[in-house]
Amino acid sequence: MINKKIKNFISIISLITSFLILLLIFQIPISKGDIVRPKPKKKVTGIKFMSPGTCASSNCHGAAAPRNRPGLDINQNEFTIWFTKDSHRKAFDVLLNQESNQIAKNLRLQDPPEESEECLVCHTTYAPASLWGKEFDFSDGVSCESCHGPSEKWLGPHTASDWTTEKSVELGMYDTKNIFSRANICLGCHIGDETKTVDHEMIAAGHPDLNRFELDTFIAFMPPHWRKPQKTDENLWAGTEIWSIGQATTLKQSMEQLARRAGSKTWHAWPEFAEFNCYSCHHDLKDDSWRQAVGYDGRTPGIPPWNSARYVLLRPLASEISPDLSNQLDKEISTLSGLLNRIGSGNPAQISSTATKVAEIIDSLETQMQGLQVDENLTYDLMLKISADGQYIANSGIRSAQQAAVALETLFYNYNQNVKGQSNQQISDAISKLFDYLEEPEKYNPATFASKIRNINQLLRSNAQ
Ligand code: HEC
Ligand code: HEC
Ligand code: HEC
Ligand code: HEC
Repeated sequence: MINKKIKNFISIISLITSFLILLLIFQIPISKGDIVRPKPKKKVTGIKFMSPGTCASSNCHGAAAPRNRPGLDINQNEFTIWFTKDSHRKAFDVLLNQESNQIAKNLRLQDPPEESEECLVCHTTYAPASLWGKEFDFSDGVSCESCHGPSEKWLGPHTASDWTTEKSVELGMYDTKNIFSRANICLGCHIGDETKTVDHEMIAAGHPDLNRFELDTFIAFMPPHWRKPQKTDENLWAGTEIWSIGQATTLKQSMEQLARRAGSKTWHAWPEFAEFNCYSCHHDLKDDSWRQAVGYDGRTPGIPPWNSARYVLLRPLASEISPDLSNQLDKEISTLSGLLNRIGSGNPAQISSTATKVAEIIDSLETQMQGLQVDENLTYDLMLKISADGQYIANSGIRSAQQAAVALETLFYNYNQNVKGQSNQQISDAISKLFDYLEEPEKYNPATFASKIRNINQLLRSNAQ
C-alpha cells in the first residue's frame, strides 16, 4: 500500500511537465557566464531580524504592481507577491491546521506545533529572542529575512542609490544571486542542516517527505518576485547550470545529514529509515516479484538499500567535471552502500566518516565545476549519459527513476530552447511518457522504465546525426 504522502512527490514533478511552469525556469536571475563559487566569508552573527513589515512600504517592496522606476533593476512589488502568492508566507499558518496537530499528537510533542521548536525552525524565520527586532513575529512565516538574511545593519543603507548588493552581503545579507549560496539557503529547510531535520519518525507521524526536493524545480515553483533576465548568449544554458549545481549541493547536504545521523551519539533513532529506499519497505507483497527477478546486486536479500537517487544523477555530471574525482566518488559510495547493507547497524561511526568523505569529494567537485564549460555539448552529453544509464538507474529504485525523469525534463527543456533537432518533438513526448508511467508508483517495474529511457537515448542519438 503506497501512502498518499509518498504519492505527493509525483504530483509536484508531473506538474512540471506543464508548459507554463517550465516557462518559469527562465524567469530566474542567473549568474552570467561561468560557474563561480562564492568566496569564503566570515559569518556575521548577532544581527537582528527586523520583520517583513519593514520592507512593505509601497515605496520599497510593497508596490501593488511592478514599478519600473528608471535606474532601478527591481520591480518593488516583491512584498506583494510574497504576501499574496508565496506559500512561504503561510508556512506558520500551516502549523495551526488539523494536519499539523495530528503530526504533533503522533509525535507526542509537549507544546502545540506553533510553539514547538521542532516545527518553528523551518516554518518561520527562526531566531533567538535576543535577535528579534521591534516588530518581529513568528506568525510572519518564512519571510524575506529567512532567505535574504537579518537586515538590521543593511536595511537603512541599502536604499541609497549608490549602494551595492556586495555591501549588503558584507553586513549580513545572504547572497541569493550566487547559485551555490542560494542552493544552501533553500536546502537548510528543504533537506535539513545542523539545527533542523525531518526524519522517518516525523514522516510516519504525517509530515511530507523532504527527499523530493529538486533545486531548479522548486525555484521554478516559487512565484517569482524577481525580474526575468533578458536572454543573452551568455545565459543560454542557465538551466543546465542550475541543474548541475543543484545536484552537487543537494547530494553534499544529504551526505552531511547522513554523517550527523549515523555519527551522533544523541540521535535517538539510528538506523534512520529516511536514509533508505522508501519503496523497498513500503510495497505490496506479490507472487510475481520483480525484485526477485532483478536480483539483489551486491546486497543482502530483504535488506532495504540506501536511497541512492541523488548519487545516480550526480555520477554522469561528476565524470564530466573530473574523471579522477568521479572515481574517488564511486569508490567511497560503494563503501558506503556496503556499510548500509545491514540497515546501517554494522558500523555507524564508519558510515558517518564515509559520508563525510563523500561530502568532501563533492566539495572538491564544486570547486572544479568552475572550469566546466556549460553549453550545448554538456547538456547533450548529460542527457545521453543519464539515458544510457537507464537500466542501472531503474534498478536503483523508483526514487532514482523519478529524479532521472526530472533531470531529463529540465535538461531537455533547456536544449529544446536552443537547438532545433529533428527528433525534438519525439523526445519531448517520450519524456512526458516517463512522467505518465511514474504516476503510479505501485505499478513500477524497472524493466519497463529502462526500456522507456532507452528509447529516449536512441532518439537523442538520432538527433545528433
Ligand atoms: C527541516 C525543516 C522542517 C521541519 C523541522 C518541519 N517542517 Fe514542516 N515542512 C517543511 C517543508 C520544506 C515543507 C514543504 C514540503 C514540500 O512541499 O516539499 C513542509 C511542509 C509541512 C506541512 C504540509 C504543508 C502543506 O501546505 O500541505 C505540514 C502540515 C508541516 N510541514 C508541519 C510541520 C510540523 C507540525 C512540524 C513539527 C513537528 C514541522 N512541519 C517541522 C520543513 C520542515
Ligand atoms: C524562500 C526564499 C525567499 C523569500 C522568502 C524571499 N525571497 Fe526575495 N529572492 C529570493 C531569490 C531566490 C531571489 C532571486 C535571486 C536574486 O536575484 O537575488 C530573490 C530576489 C529578490 C529581489 C531581487 C534582487 C535583485 O537584485 O534582483 C528582491 C528585491 C527581493 N528578493 C526581496 C524580497 C522581499 C522584500 C521579500 C519578503 C517580502 C523576499 N524577497 C522574500 C528568495 C526569497
Ligand atoms: C526557513 C525555511 C525555508 C527556506 C529558507 C526555504 N523554504 Fe521553501 N518552504 C519552507 C516551508 C516550511 C514550506 C511549506 C510551506 C507551506 O506549505 O505553506 C516551503 C514550501 C516551498 C515550496 C512549495 C512547495 C509545495 O509543495 O507547494 C517551494 C516551491 C519552495 N518552498 C521553494 C523554496 C526555494 C526555491 C527556496 C530557496 C530560495 C526555499 N524554498 C527556501 C521552508 C523554507
Ligand atoms: C526499513 C523499512 C522502512 C523504510 C526504508 C521506510 N519506512 Fe516508512 N515505515 C516503516 C514502518 C515499519 C512503518 C510503521 C508501519 C506501522 O506502524 O504499521 C512505517 C511508516 C511510515 C508511514 C506512516 C503511514 C503508513 O502508511 O505506514 C509513512 C508515511 C512512511 N513510513 C513513509 C516513508 C517514506 C517516505 C520513506 C522514505 C523516505 C520510508 N517510509 C522509509 C518502514 C520503513
